[in-house]
Amino acid sequence: MRFEGHVVLVTGAAKGIGLRIARAFAREGARVAALDIDAPGADALARELVAEGREALALKADVTAAPEVRQAVDAVLGRWGRIDVLVNNAGGFSVIRRTEDIPDDEWEAIFRFNVTSAFLCAKAVLPQMKRQRSGAIVNLSSVAGRAGAVTVTSHYAAAKAALLGFTRHLAREVAREASGLTRWRRARSPPSGAGGISSLAVKGTSTTSRPQNSPTLVAEARSMTAGLKWSGGTGR
Ligand SMILES: NC(=O)c1ccc[n+]([C@@H]2O[C@H](COP(=O)([O-])OP(=O)(O)OC[C@H]3O[C@@H](n4cnc5c(N)ncnc54)[C@H](O)[C@@H]3O)[C@@H](O)[C@H]2O)c1
Repeated sequence: MRFEGHVVLVTGAAKGIGLRIARAFAREGARVAALDIDAPGADALARELVAEGREALALKADVTAAPEVRQAVDAVLGRWGRIDVLVNNAGGFSVIRRTEDIPDDEWEAIFRFNVTSAFLCAKAVLPQMKRQRSGAIVNLSSVAGRAGAVTVTSHYAAAKAALLGFTRHLAREVAREASGLTRWRRARSPPSGAGGISSLAVKGTSTTSRPQNSPTLVAEARSMTAGLKWSGGTGR
């Protein structure tokens, strides 16, 4: 099992892609913290995983609210004492509108849900990952963030593009800090349109891209850009 004993925090884990990511990590031996604003959904997942003999923790939190995010991260640390992987999955949009019809406050809310949430969660886990000298942050963007798409909305496309920028910057920022101390590797994004998950490797395993239909870890995610990885090690 590739993630035996690792602690993985997945946001938006009660349904959809986040649910599949959480299950996939659990199948690979991870201890899974399932964070969602939908408490019954997160509880149901945690119960399912525990019934299968896994370790799981349900966390009710709103990823757009800093105090709730910090509380959730504290709960994970209280339970397991570390966080190896953060998957910033929660995000999306609800209604397709033409740009001129988007209310100003809805524009802000979509940015908060898709970008600020990733910032808040990363901010909450980074100090611990730095103490551990290992960790990975995975941000789920969208092909809409690269090229736009008529099936989504301009605020969603813009927010996912911003998330790509945040991800790339964060990878460089942390890699720079880590490079003097430890081996590090910046995660690769999958080819445009290819979908899939890359860089879920933790500690000493290689960073790879996996196609969407791969029967391997976390194959269901449609699109993502990977975050960062650094690990204590031999400097190889
Ligand atoms: N579904 C797609 O086709 C697709 C394509 C590209 C990218 N994505 C991205 O993948 C991610 C997951 O998409 P999905 O379709 O599985 O989403 P979904 O809508 O099916 O599930 C989202 C989950 O997030 C939870 N959630 C909503 N608001 C929250 C909040 N404020 N705090 C915490 N949790 C909250 C919901 O309760 C739900 O469990 C999103 O970031 C989305 O933008 C999805």
